[in-house]
Parts: sequence; structure tokens; C-alpha cells
Amino acid sequence: MSTAERVVILGATGDLTGRYLLPALAELADAGRLPSAAVIHGMARDPWDTAGFRRHASQRLARHTPEIPAPARRAVVDRLEYSAGDVTDPAALATAIGDGPGAVLCYLALPPAVYPATVRGLSAIELVAGSRVVVEKPFGTDRASATALNALLRECFAESSVFRIDHVLGQQTVQNLLGVRFANRLFESGWDREHVESVDVVWDETIALEGRAGYYDHAGALRDMVQSHLLQLLCLVAMEEPTALDERHFRDRKMELLRAVRAAEPGDDLPGPVRARYQAGRVHGHEIPAYADEPGVDPDRETETFTSVTMLIENERWRGVPFRLRTGKALGRDRRFIRVTFREVTWRGFDRDEAPPNALTFHMDPDRLTLALALNGAGDPFRLEPAELGLDLAPQALSAYARLLLDALEGDVTLSIRGDEAEESWRIVEPILTSWARDEAALLEYPAGSAGPVA
Ligand code: BG6
Repeated sequence: MSTAERVVILGATGDLTGRYLLPALAELADAGRLPSAAVIHGMARDPWDTAGFRRHASQRLARHTPEIPAPARRAVVDRLEYSAGDVTDPAALATAIGDGPGAVLCYLALPPAVYPATVRGLSAIELVAGSRVVVEKPFGTDRASATALNALLRECFAESSVFRIDHVLGQQTVQNLLGVRFANRLFESGWDREHVESVDVVWDETIALEGRAGYYDHAGALRDMVQSHLLQLLCLVAMEEPTALDERHFRDRKMELLRAVRAAEPGDDLPGPVRARYQAGRVHGHEIPAYADEPGVDPDRETETFTSVTMLIENERWRGVPFRLRTGKALGRDRRFIRVTFREVTWRGFDRDEAPPNALTFHMDPDRLTLALALNGAGDPFRLEPAELGLDLAPQALSAYARLLLDALEGDVTLSIRGDEAEESWRIVEPILTSWARDEAALLEYPAGSAGPVA
């Protein structure tokens, strides 16, 4: 697929554009990866002109990416154009897209509720062959809406031109999972139910709501993090090896895995899904109000800001191994990691209580790999001591957003979510959402700044 020559950002005056897209473009410019011909056209309702948009962009870039040299930031600002208009109106969209010969990349930096009308607007105009679209998560609010959105996108774009991006997949540590797993016999040979006791995927955040009630209060932790990011992490830990690292094989393997995933049920004798929301507390010395008292929150919606769910994978490799996914906001510590805990050996010559089982952990803040081992003790070699091998991973060449944006510009969909994956992820979480909607599980509470309602 050819490189897109025109980037059209729909929702160009919003926070996503200022906080992530413009900085990612500046990063690409700095790395010499922004196509030299690329024009970046912003569109939104605000009655601005190009000069006003450029001023806004300079300010946002100075605020969010002061570390990027000024010439790279200027290189982005100088390419910006702006037109005011309704992103669902085909005539306004046609003006923004222009009539140049090159392929266009349409980035929907919009509230998800506007996606369907915007895609309908795009389908009413003739886009140059090879044009593509980027949509952010959440992709739908349930399985039915994700299916409907996929159908709409198919009317306008080939699947190979649709980028459902999940910025977690743009992270190098996450991509490194594949190399560690598939290129090291040491791990590859023990990556199954016979050797692995459990897997934890943890994404604990200290940040609270941060003014996002309009979106978050309708989403909650399960939709916001588990349906998208954490299930994708699960895929990379657990999928079978792809025949090749290209988009078809890679995404086929993820899809096969998702089809085999289900949430643990009462008969599995594993902890059930937990939902909780934070009460007032202190995080890093700052007072945090209770979630229910945050502006814009409707406490009666009972939106969860914390969840932990156990998934099981119904295949020969993983049957019976619990995959525990956990995420929450306003917690006491930022912790992002994937931990594979191995089974204990059966020999009891040593006192195993002296050392925890082997565990391989992929830390994502900062990127680091650690391996917990049991070794002979320093004084008495017939006693064990826990030890840890650790390796700081090379810094990521491009940030996750810059990497995914570059892929979209170049037409590489490998790291974006395929339509069927998005629908299947909703299939996995829907029984939990339904049971919560029926109030079948209590909404627990935890003080902001604590470790959460469960260990
Ligand atoms: C976003 C979620 O997709 O990911 C946020 O909507 C969450 O709620 C964020 O905080 C976490 O990703 P990162 O990269 O900001 O840690």
C-alpha cells in the first residue's frame, strides 16, 4: 500500500489531537519518518482558521513535547491546514479532504458516539484508492454496536485500510513478548499448562478520573481497559506461534486465541469478577474526591473504576490455567506488568517455602524483564534463597502513538485490531457486563491511594 500523502484529523481541536497526535507527528518529523509531501489538515466545529490552528498546535506541542527539538515541531506546524465544519457533513468533509491525487488518512479523533455518522459522511464522498481510516477505542459499547460499526466501515473501506488502534500494542515491551516467547527455547518449551501455574496481567494506575467523566462514566474499567488493552496483552502472551510475522498470520493467531477465551464461571472454582470504585483518599499526597463526587459522574450508574477478572482459555495448551486481569484507577502505585508464574518442581529435597516459584515478568513502567529464580543460599548451600535476574530493555525508538501513526501512514495494519477481534473481545466481556447490570455482584469500594479492594 502506498504512503498516505494527506492526513485529515477529524476532531482536530480536541484533547486527543493536542495530547497525542500532534506530538506523535512531531516525533516522526524529528525521526525523519514523516513523509515529506504530507499535508495535515485539521477539521472541527470550532470556527478557527489555519493561523489559529497553527497557534494552538504550537502551544500544545510546546506543552506536551518540549523535548522534541523546535525545528521538528515547526515542521509539523508549517504543514497544518484547518477548515471548520461538521464532521458528519459530506460537503464539509470533501473540503477538508481536498481533491489531490494521493491517498488520504482520515483520523477519527472524535467521541465514539460520532463515529457512525462520520463514517456515513465519508462513504458519501469519493475517496482516492488506498485511502484509510483510523478509529480509536472504544470500538463500540457492546458486541452489537461493534458489529454494526464494522458493517458501516466495510461499506467505505477495505479491512486492510481500517486501523482500529490500541496504543498498548504500539509499545515495544508488548511486541517484545513475541521475541521472548518464540525465539527462546528455554521459554517456548515451557509455555503451557504443564509448566505454567498462572498468568497475571496488571495495569494499576494512580491517575483518577482526570475530567473524563463524559466518556468514562459510561464505560468503566471493564470496557475501558479489559475489553481492549488487557485482552490484547492476553493474546500476545497466550497465542500460538504465527507462521510469519505479517498481519494475516499475526491477527489470525490472536483471533483464534480470543475465540477460546472465556471468563471463569462459578463452577470453575476461581474468584469471580470483582468490580469496585474509589472513595475519597490521597494519592501521592494529593486529595482525591470519591469517584461518585467527581463532576459529571452519576453515582447511580455504579460505574466501576477497578476490576479484576479471571479468564480461562479452552485449548490444549492452556486449559485450566487462570489468567488474572486487573486494572484500576486512583490506586496507590502505578504498576503495569505481565507475569508468568511457573509451577513448582515436585522434588522436595529443598524447602520450597524458602523461595517463591519461578516467574518471568514483563514490566512496562519502565520497560524491564525480570526472572525470579531460587538459588542456593550464600551461607548454607542446602538452603534456598530467592534471586532475580533483571534486564532493562532498550528504550523504544518511537512512542506507541508515533509507531502506530507511522504504520497507518504506511498502510501496515499488523498492529491494529481486526474487526473480528473487536467483536470477539466484546463477546468475552459481555456476560460480566450483563451480570453487573443485573446487580449480581456487589460494587465494592476502596480508598483512593490504596492497593484496591483485592490483593
Ligand atoms: C486509555 C484508557 O486507553 O489507556 C485510559 O482510556 C488509560 O483510561 C490509558 O488511563 C492507559 O494507557 P497509558 O498508556 O496512558 O498508560
